[in-house]
Amino acid sequence: MAVVPMVWAGDRLRLLDQRRLPLEEAWLELTSASEVADAIREMAVRGAPAIGVAAAYGMALAAFHGENRQVADAILRSSRPTAVNLFWALDRIGLVKEWSGNEILAEAMRIESEDREANLAIGRHGAELLRPGTRILTVCNTGSLATAGHGTALGVIRTGHEKGVLSHVYACETRPRQQGLRLTAWELTKDGIPFSAIADGAAGYLMRLGKVDAVIAGADRIAANGDTANKIGTYTLAVLARAHGIPFYIAAPMSTVDLAIKDGSQIPIEERSAEELTIIDGHCVAPSGCPVYNPAFDVTPAELISAIITEKGVALPPFQFPP
Ligand code: MRU
Repeated sequence: MAVVPMVWAGDRLRLLDQRRLPLEEAWLELTSASEVADAIREMAVRGAPAIGVAAAYGMALAAFHGENRQVADAILRSSRPTAVNLFWALDRIGLVKEWSGNEILAEAMRIESEDREANLAIGRHGAELLRPGTRILTVCNTGSLATAGHGTALGVIRTGHEKGVLSHVYACETRPRQQGLRLTAWELTKDGIPFSAIADGAAGYLMRLGKVDAVIAGADRIAANGDTANKIGTYTLAVLARAHGIPFYIAAPMSTVDLAIKDGSQIPIEERSAEELTIIDGHCVAPSGCPVYNPAFDVTPAELISAIITEKGVALPPFQFPP
């Protein structure tokens, strides 16, 4: 059965708890906007498009249960700062005039199905860029778990595999939350796509060995000039790709493009807790009181990006997006 990160269940939102994957497939039952906001903040659901869809359903729960509209909207907006899809989805919900459960739910469902369609189109456009036998390196999780289905960068990988042009995927572990090792590896295994998980620090060595033909990453926010915020470590991969003459692609729906932001310097970058770094498997592995700096995202400047793949097609530099 296809992986989905959440399912609307009539009067509640069932959410696959991504913190427990791949060891356990546990589902949360959410009934209020603040429960959805907590699930986003604590990363039970994560990935820019999936966060947006979850927030839209959070507003539907709030409307059905008679919560105050502005309060619910504000709680959800404060859950995570970087992925613009969250704010984009809440803005769309904000355009629904009537504060009625059925009306808000209908818009949330449209947002979800449009994202799924966008991902399938991203997959088709992106796969056109791949030559037979391509070996792709990717980071974080950008698959069905991170979207309404199929995925962005992982959607390109999926479609490339279906078309028979992909020979191997290298999935960066993606410290500190290990979305690559836990989630991308889980999705690739389910789909029977040949891959190896690698430690983040191995990426440059693999490129040097000539084992990588393209790097494909997702995005949390793309500025008007193409500068792209994505999972911490993405910028490092882009620099390495440029140094080795390897194309570096970003795959994301248009809902991730923030035309209100001129360039990457204005993208808010989330900082997360020290414990994400220092605690491994429930044990603190750092000296007590170890100072930590833990930015969750970085910004790749547009000049390092070979192409941005959206549902509208493949944009080449200099990047310009339709309003
Ligand atoms: O902190 P996360 O796991 O929410 O970060 C996710 C990413 O950085 C993804 O690459 C991005 O959201 C795109 S998901 C299609």
